[in-house]
Amino acid sequence: MTGPFYGIYGASGCGRGILPLAREMLAAAGVSADRLVFIDDKPPAEVLNGHRVLTYQAFLAIPAPERFAALAVADSGVREKLADKCQADDVQPWSVRASSVVIMDDVVLGDGALLSPTVTITSNIRIGRQFHANIGSIVEHDCVIGDFVTFAPGVICNGNVRIEDHAYIGAGAMLRQGRPGAPLTIGRGAVVGMGAVVTRDVLPGVTVAGNPARTLDKD
Ligand SMILES: CC(C)(COP(=O)(O)OP(=O)(O)OC[C@H]1O[C@@H](n2cnc3c(N)ncnc32)[C@H](O)[C@@H]1OP(=O)(O)O)[C@@H](O)C(=O)NCCC(=O)NCCS
Repeated sequence: MTGPFYGIYGASGCGRGILPLAREMLAAAGVSADRLVFIDDKPPAEVLNGHRVLTYQAFLAIPAPERFAALAVADSGVREKLADKCQADDVQPWSVRASSVVIMDDVVLGDGALLSPTVTITSNIRIGRQFHANIGSIVEHDCVIGDFVTFAPGVICNGNVRIEDHAYIGAGAMLRQGRPGAPLTIGRGAVVGMGAVVTRDVLPGVTVAGNPARTLDKD
């Protein structure tokens, strides 16, 4: 059989969480499940969760007119490197989303987004490339989210929040709403710890945690 081939890049927890959603999307499109594989640079097994695990080189070697890859790696720096590598090899970004995802109105979502079950994205929202939103996360109105941003499960990102590239928001964190023209800002590469309640801007590269969230003092 000819036709596109699909890969979930990363066979760890993130990839195995995304795989059933990808399988469901392909089944709905009438694509056979044997055209879906894991890609992993160090395959932990030959088969995982019923799908072959191939190295990237083996994935490229499969005869196919088109190839798509969903980048299921939580580390945003690694995700960016993989995105560059795939682009250079003409492997197209693949966006995988659960059927329970709700996307409301005027939402622009970049390539390669992975949206887990019950993620809700409301209205007038801009999101960059390779966004990960894990189970149950919410993005409220008028947010602007950069490239390679990661939401762990259960993040509540209220309205008028700006999140710069490569920020990571931990499980169950809540981000206070900003105001039109004065968004609450999470800086580039910042990390928000699980359970944090963020009430003020977070500077680039800083890790915050707690309620109210403060810079994590590791001394
Ligand atoms: C905030 C975070 C990034 C810090 O990780 P780290 O730099 O490795 O920090 P450590 O684990 O060394 O902890 C440093 C201190 O901060 C505390 N701490 C860590 N995370 C915290 C959090 N989320 N809230 C409050 N305190 C926290 C630790 O208890 C420790 O305190 P101590 O020095 O008094 O013992 C991490 O704990 C976190 O919350 N990551 C997100 C996890 C997540 O959401 N995973 C989802 C996977 S799908």
